[in-house]
Amino acid sequence: MCGIVGYIGHREAFPIVIKGLQRLEYRGYDSAGVAIYDGSKINLSKTKGKVEDLKNKAKEISQAGTLGIGHTRWATHGVPNDVNSHPHYSNSGDLVIIHNGIIENYESIKKALINRGYSFKSDTDTEVLVNLIEEVQKTEGVKLGKAVQIALNQVVGAYAIAVFDKKKPDEIVVAKLGSPLAIGVGENEFFIASDASPFIEFTNNAVYLEDEEMAIIRLGKEIKLRKIKNDAIAYPNILELQMNLEEIEKGGYDHFMLKEIYEQPRAIMDTYRGRLLADQGIIRMAGIDENIEKFTNANRIIIVACGTSWHAGLVAEYIFEDLARIPVEVEYASEFRYRNPIITDKDVLIAISQSGETADTLAAIKLAKEKGAFVFGVCNVVGSSIARESNAGAYTHAGPEIGVASTKAFTTQITVLTLIALKLAKEKGEFSSSKFHEYLTELETIPSKVEKSLQSNALVETVAEVYKDSANCLYLGRGYNFPVALEGALKLKEISYIHAEGYPAAEMKHGPIALIDEQMPVIVIATKKGHYEKVVSNIQEIKSRKGKIIAIVTEGDVQVKELADHVIEIPETLESLTPLLTTIPLQLLSYHIAVMRNCNVDQPRNLAKSVTVE
Ligand code: M6R
Repeated sequence: MCGIVGYIGHREAFPIVIKGLQRLEYRGYDSAGVAIYDGSKINLSKTKGKVEDLKNKAKEISQAGTLGIGHTRWATHGVPNDVNSHPHYSNSGDLVIIHNGIIENYESIKKALINRGYSFKSDTDTEVLVNLIEEVQKTEGVKLGKAVQIALNQVVGAYAIAVFDKKKPDEIVVAKLGSPLAIGVGENEFFIASDASPFIEFTNNAVYLEDEEMAIIRLGKEIKLRKIKNDAIAYPNILELQMNLEEIEKGGYDHFMLKEIYEQPRAIMDTYRGRLLADQGIIRMAGIDENIEKFTNANRIIIVACGTSWHAGLVAEYIFEDLARIPVEVEYASEFRYRNPIITDKDVLIAISQSGETADTLAAIKLAKEKGAFVFGVCNVVGSSIARESNAGAYTHAGPEIGVASTKAFTTQITVLTLIALKLAKEKGEFSSSKFHEYLTELETIPSKVEKSLQSNALVETVAEVYKDSANCLYLGRGYNFPVALEGALKLKEISYIHAEGYPAAEMKHGPIALIDEQMPVIVIATKKGHYEKVVSNIQEIKSRKGKIIAIVTEGDVQVKELADHVIEIPETLESLTPLLTTIPLQLLSYHIAVMRNCNVDQPRNLAKSVTVE
């Protein structure tokens, strides 16, 4: 849940590390730090705050040097302050470390080190780790790489680390367990980062460390990979990255979130491209094709995910049960992994994750695999931990999502899950060829319908102006659009800090209706297909209690228009595909309200993009 960056080579390290940290700031942004080594002196600067603050503070140090490491933090141990920020020195001042993760047994190690004369400046587990490495170096008389390996065999927890030794100006040692770590391989230069975005303009070649692997990166040498547990040699698999620089920059938009909202027509199309072959009447997905019996013979599908991905899982529950007639359970990964769930080898578990690094989802997968279930990953980040840990999977092709609030990840996850459900419905004989064809051709129209839904932007902005100062907000939807109501509420609360709740519309009368008065904006999804008349009755109930109604309706609706205070139209589509459209005005609404409230849209307080701690 932090971002780490490192560089060793022939260029000045400081600008590369700083730029890299800015790209990784989505991973954590409560403090930041950098250490640059010029071959004789380590210059270290760190501060509470953003990378921009670090840039200013670092003017006080010499920035020259071709070896550097940097860190942007989301605090776990110790409050965000200058001292707890990374990098951390060892007691001798020779070793410097950055760390993303948690060392769970740090307290007992700290006590043992204190007994051996070590002292600590910070409250962090990371400072304990760097001193443990130093202690191993001293007592065992080994080089840095070996000391890192021995020390890591003593710790319990998760980590992606980069550490260097003042006595070795041409070497950085990295290691990974549970948190991501990529090494960019250039011409006699190496880059280290939590994802490839910090080095994409320098090299397309990257090695992703596997869990329990470490690497000794030495200038002029090949990367030396080892298994941390048994010292076995591992061989680096150099991947060619497809990412380009444009994808990770704002491209004229004020915020990444807005850019990503507008990217959805393209992202959805990229997600079904090459899979949805409407003219041939087929859906081609290797991960499903190769494991079709696992799905068709499954007792049930269990979906695990967190946050927005969990909402996509809820939409999938409706789609799988409705279209493919396969029983589905949707679970919060964090609950599932700790509640001794009943899992058998007749179950298929689908894990949904944009980042592919969410710790709870990863742990849920491991548990399900242990119990014999077949695990299918739906991830956006290629090569991510969840993608690698799954037995098979399908990527969403949303492209990098940098705004902390998930937008295009949600719609592309629904797209992939719809493709799977349609494929299984066909395979199981639940669909006639003509019905299948109808769905395929309609799905192909979704990008242009999303485009049309985006045209409501100016209208949504005027609605945002009216409700930007609300203290609370209620979101209602039914059927396929109940999860969209949950997602709309999550978007609003996470970026504008307005309390918002999502409910199935019919549940309103079981409690939430008590909240409704003339101050309460209620966003109701009332599309033509999907319990329309019943939702209209709910709207009447809100109106008679003077609630303010913002309705998302199907183009041409007249009935709701007469009741609602504001009406936002989306194009007509099949009921199961409506979430791909109804979610668009809700994303825009939360975006505009957050901007009007001067909130940090892309980096909301207390959050991080990738939650790699449980
Ligand atoms: O990377 P993941 O999809 O596994 O992340 C899951 C949640 O942390 C994520 O969706 C979070 O809820 C977003 N901030 C929501 O916008």
